[in-house]
Amino acid sequence: MRKPLIVGNWKMNKTVTESIGLIKEMIDFVQDYEQTEVVICPPFTSLWVARELIQDTNIVLGAQNISYHNEGAYTGEVSARMLQNIGCDYVILGHSERRSYFQESSEDVAKKVRQALNFGIKPIVCVGERLVERETGKAREIVSEEAAAIFEVLNKQEIVNIVFAYEPIWAIGTGKSATPQDASEIIKYIRTLVGNKYDETIAQHIRILYGGSVSPENIKSLMAEPDIDGALVGGASLQALTFSKLVKFQQLQL
Ligand code: PGA
Repeated sequence: MRKPLIVGNWKMNKTVTESIGLIKEMIDFVQDYEQTEVVICPPFTSLWVARELIQDTNIVLGAQNISYHNEGAYTGEVSARMLQNIGCDYVILGHSERRSYFQESSEDVAKKVRQALNFGIKPIVCVGERLVERETGKAREIVSEEAAAIFEVLNKQEIVNIVFAYEPIWAIGTGKSATPQDASEIIKYIRTLVGNKYDETIAQHIRILYGGSVSPENIKSLMAEPDIDGALVGGASLQALTFSKLVKFQQLQL
């Protein structure tokens, strides 16, 4: 059984002061809720204080990026060892905003995945197509190319530590989520790719999330799809009550 996983991607939002307030509120809402694994990914500046606040709670810490270098003269970069030391269990890698605004290639993402795993941090690897690619029937092709770059660098023992997130770019921050059927179709396809490359047991074990305009209004129907194992949430993770509704989607009445 794959435990549902809800990940909050705060992106470049929240000062340290604001983070403290948000995390304290979140703890009040979701503490003792064991049916979902909860991960928050604040900006680097808030990681330390987040770690302190979530100690002894069910909330787990993640980061939003990592350098593929070990250490040294790389001004502005943050290493996997630093994130390991601060207590990050997860890191979001290959987010479409990093791929498009910061020119990260699939090879860069694969190097970052390697680096994270070397330090015991689980990568949440984002894949997904643009609108024009969906409209021209290329969604599977894009997702398969992005996943293949990851498969290339990981063996069977390593791939089980990856979480994939299918995030169609046209659904991110637009309020226009993919339908549960469309999301599930691509997620099933990613699971098939994992099965073909590794084996069926691994494909059934690996968690694959959906991301893109997830909200309390659509989470239940998305999670009703057996292949969707959770959500990577941007906008709706910045408000404690809204985020807690996503975490406790099992209890939502619609
Ligand atoms: P959104 O962002 O929930 O605001 O659409 C999702 C993401 O970028 O991970």
